[in-house]
Amino acid sequence: PRPLRVALLGCGVVGTQVARLLTHDAADLASRAGAPLELVGIAVRDVTAPRDAVIDRALLTDDAESLVDDADIVVEVMGGIEPARALLLRAIAAGAAVVTANKALLAEDGPTLYRAADSAGVDIYFEAAVAGAIPIVRPVRESLAGDDVRRVLGILNGTTNYVLDQMATTGASLEDALAEAQALGFAEADPTADVEGYDAAAKAAILASLAFHTRVSIADVAREGIRSVTAEDVAWAARTGYVIKLLAIADLREDGPGRAPSGVSVRVHPALVPLAHPLANVRGSFNAVFVEAAAAGELMFYGRGAGGAPTASAVLGDVVSAARHRVLGGKGPQESTYAALPILPTGAA
Ligand code: HSE
Repeated sequence: PRPLRVALLGCGVVGTQVARLLTHDAADLASRAGAPLELVGIAVRDVTAPRDAVIDRALLTDDAESLVDDADIVVEVMGGIEPARALLLRAIAAGAAVVTANKALLAEDGPTLYRAADSAGVDIYFEAAVAGAIPIVRPVRESLAGDDVRRVLGILNGTTNYVLDQMATTGASLEDALAEAQALGFAEADPTADVEGYDAAAKAAILASLAFHTRVSIADVAREGIRSVTAEDVAWAARTGYVIKLLAIADLREDGPGRAPSGVSVRVHPALVPLAHPLANVRGSFNAVFVEAAAAGELMFYGRGAGGAPTASAVLGDVVSAARHRVLGGKGPQESTYAALPILPTGAA
């Protein structure tokens, strides 16, 4: 099959890792995807800015529109609402499959993109928009599509989980724990979106929309951050058998047992989690999502919710899915070049 032309929009921490993964073992990726994946360009604001050595500077362009017009798969990791939205709509209108990590855009205006993709008959993938490397979008969107999800509980922000965890283990104040997180590079220079719960609320809106087959935007999410959590609160929680976590909670409201659901509630706030609950053991900057579904019961997803390489892993998974769908009509799994490896007898080291 002919190579699929991949356009990358954005070359920050995630974009750099996406470019690296796309090129580092192209032969194996091609056999998994069903066709060679050719990175044809990387759209950036400033083509002269310093870049990581893995970036082929000849691919850089500041003409994102022309790049989009000439691609089979458009990967958007630039973030922000515009020009990301306009470029993705342009890509969809031109018939490209799109992959985006843009939680802010999807939480604010996802339905516009989903509708555009539906009417153009193209795929939109966004595994990386929620909880980085953790496969959670596809399980909720596809694997649980035949079940009734009742509740989703998530630790969806690594910065605040790190800060609360440090407070619990060292007795530090919120200010000191946050300053340490910034010094170690876990927290942004401006951690407002994390600390005030906006980042978790955006992810919660996306997950709730998928879980309950509805449209929840970030404006629908009740939100309280961790700013008011004190060292005393954290110590008191520990003494009584709890840990304080910033939880995103999305559930179906029922007016009574056996009654039809009357609404969907989505909120982000500090919560007391019993020490015996699996979410209590989510330490440091890790994320986790706990899903309760009528038939499946309880499910837990755990892993790295941020960072260049973990987030790029989710993006690449989507790129391979998009490619397979183009080439093979969604059939799979494909054999990779590993298919030539011998299957070792049990116990071989
Ligand atoms: N700032 C986010 C976090 C990273 O701390 O989890 C990605 O959304």
